[in-house]
Amino acid sequence: MNNFEYYNPTKIVFGTDTYDQIPAKINEFTAGKRIMITYGGGSIKSNGIYDSVMKALKDYEVVEFSGIEANPEYDTLMKAVDQIKENPVDFVLAIGGGSVIDGTKFIVSAAKYDGNPWDVLTMKKGCKFEYAIPFGTVLTLPATGSEMNSGAVISNSRLKEKRTMGGPQGFPKFSFLDPTVVKTLPKKQIQNGIIDAYMHTLEQYLTYPSDNLLQERIAEGILSTLIEIGPEVLENPEDYKLASNLMWCATMALNGTLRAGVAYDWSTHMIGHELTALHGIDHARTLAIIAPNLYKVKLENKKEKLIQYGQRIFGLEGSCAEEAINRTRTFFESLGVKTSLSDYTKEHDETAVIIKKRFEERGWEGIGERKDLTPTEAKQIVEMSI
Ligand code: NZQ
Ligand code: ZN
Repeated sequence: MNNFEYYNPTKIVFGTDTYDQIPAKINEFTAGKRIMITYGGGSIKSNGIYDSVMKALKDYEVVEFSGIEANPEYDTLMKAVDQIKENPVDFVLAIGGGSVIDGTKFIVSAAKYDGNPWDVLTMKKGCKFEYAIPFGTVLTLPATGSEMNSGAVISNSRLKEKRTMGGPQGFPKFSFLDPTVVKTLPKKQIQNGIIDAYMHTLEQYLTYPSDNLLQERIAEGILSTLIEIGPEVLENPEDYKLASNLMWCATMALNGTLRAGVAYDWSTHMIGHELTALHGIDHARTLAIIAPNLYKVKLENKKEKLIQYGQRIFGLEGSCAEEAINRTRTFFESLGVKTSLSDYTKEHDETAVIIKKRFEERGWEGIGERKDLTPTEAKQIVEMSI
């Protein structure tokens, strides 16, 4: 088993009818009464989550910042940063999915940072966020795991860039996970949530054998659970058993547990982010487009784990690496998600070349668990995915 450090300070409050506990949780971190709530395009107003949370916050002075887009935009978030710098708040409560939570991680960090925050996202040497305003979350979409991890992904559509940030300041102090939110989601977002959670698991599992038997079994437990409940939760999003399992799978898939003591890949995500930046495709769908072909190109690297995955998850026999890849694609498609780039955009002629060039410019000469997926292979994978 590889050496590892494991740290996760986020408190999870899981279940229904819990929002009245939000004040007690906030009070653990500040005696201040000035709170900013952040949210997206308004779904929380139509599905009643806004009213429930505001009722719980009745004793606070609440400042609102709304309009955080899917794939949160740097320029939008900087408006909140400026607002807080002008008129500080004691705590920030994000109410939303991965985009609102990620955007909030950026806001609370950049509000305490004196340099140019874009430098942090471009990984300019020596630049990092270290401090943040304390923040918590009310999750409305199980998918990204952002509610229990310290990472965030921020877009800049002016530059057609999508960049990641992270650091210990990015952990929410607490997150409220109420599975009944699943029934308020458009089907498309439930599909996205299942695939994102599945792919977070594969990114930390489909590498090479790790000797960390427990971690591998936990990953397999998440994969099998998602295959079992995925199609059903799309049909019955009101079913609490299905919704709560989807929500906990999504959180567990990216809260740091699976990465402990194993190799991890993340190259599907790195290529996928470029597809979102260039074409605006939903995050999870970019993963469904890229993963099957990436696994084909890196078949030799991943063969042993692909066989283990095929045998344990799909019940295949023998040397089943390629069939395991096919079954993965079939699973995505069985959820109603298309897996070719041309299903999402017709303007893909330059995409592979641009991505290769970007990877070269950033010095990403080798990514993935063996740091050997080259920009040329990234181009090949995108070409195969059209
Ligand atoms: O803006 P609102 O009105 O809230 O609508 C949102 C949005 O349009 C809607 N929605 C959310 N909860 C809802 C709801 N609609 C009805 N009822 C509800 N209960 O869903 C739409 C998509 O929301 P978004 O937050 O963008 O989705 P998701 O949670 O999939 O987040 C995607 C973002 O997270 C990043 C992605 O790159 C992308 O930017 N990721 C973050 C990660 C992390 N921090 O660890 C890891 C992931 O790999 C991912 O990269
Ligand atoms: Zn993801």
